[in-house]
Amino acid sequence: MSDTSSSPSSAATTPASSAVGSFSGSQRYIADESLLADVNAAVVLGRPLLVKGEPGTGKTMLASAVAEALGMPLRIWSIKSTTKAIDGLYHYDVVQRLNDARFGEGDTKDLRRYIRLGVLGQAFSAERQEVVLIDEIDKADLEFPNDLLRELDEMAFHIPELDETVRAKHRPILIITSNAEKELPDAFLRRCLFHFIAFPDKDRMRRIVDVHLPGLPERMLDVAFTKFYALRRQDGLRKKPSTSELVDWLTVLVRMGVSPEDVTARFPFAGVLLKQEQDLEAARRSPGTRG
Ligand SMILES: Nc1ncnc2c1ncn2[C@@H]1O[C@H](COP(=O)(O)OP(=O)(O)O)[C@@H](O)[C@H]1O
Ligand SMILES: [Mg+2]
Repeated sequence: MSDTSSSPSSAATTPASSAVGSFSGSQRYIADESLLADVNAAVVLGRPLLVKGEPGTGKTMLASAVAEALGMPLRIWSIKSTTKAIDGLYHYDVVQRLNDARFGEGDTKDLRRYIRLGVLGQAFSAERQEVVLIDEIDKADLEFPNDLLRELDEMAFHIPELDETVRAKHRPILIITSNAEKELPDAFLRRCLFHFIAFPDKDRMRRIVDVHLPGLPERMLDVAFTKFYALRRQDGLRKKPSTSELVDWLTVLVRMGVSPEDVTARFPFAGVLLKQEQDLEAARRSPGTRG
């Protein structure tokens, strides 16, 4: 392959270690036992781990935590509505070839010069095992997961232009996330391990918040959590506030010097948690969340 030079999205600096079944979380990422077990099972089986859960539950962050903990580079493939499966494999740069032909540059018969590997192609060709995140697979159309079935099974794909097969030198650790916007096809699900990240309870949320904002006063945590979980329980909210919004809210409360009493009495900086005017209105009316 001529073009394997594109660098990984980010690379861990620690040396590679043996990956088998050795993910035990990271300092920055709070994972429960069942998530650790499922990550390790996916590593052992060499199968993709499909991670589902509402937005903000740490799906995307999981991949970087796994890469960091195992000392492996991380490649990220962020899926958009227009993404096609082939984009992750390779791209034949016809335009460059035509240009080169027109201006007489280089050997345009050497097609290898015009094959650009995608995220999976690069991970398959890498000299060491890598972590690959296919983020928000449910953003793409239904064909997308179906079009990747064979490639993910065999960790290989064919490039007809070169009549060559790119086969993974080391099966990457594949983490695929979904916000459940669309159902994924059964044939795809069969090939993955599945983990659902439930919304954190208060204890786990405390540990998550502590990673981002260590040493917050107990009283502030208490009142903010009471308000936050009351909001999440409130009927009819269009969009429940998420973990990342709670972390943002606490950051604002602390930086702006809001007292715990104020958090209880009013609902300061509500717009950090709620993003719909109907939700803000409902929260103001409800005794549980008004404080
Ligand atoms: N388990 C966790 N440990 C540490 N931080 C977390 C965890 N879950 C969520 N967060 C925080 O929430 C933010 C959003 O997480 P993210 O991985 O982007 O969620 P998702 O991909 O599920 O929408 C993270 O950047 C982090 O600040
Ligand atoms: Mg995400």
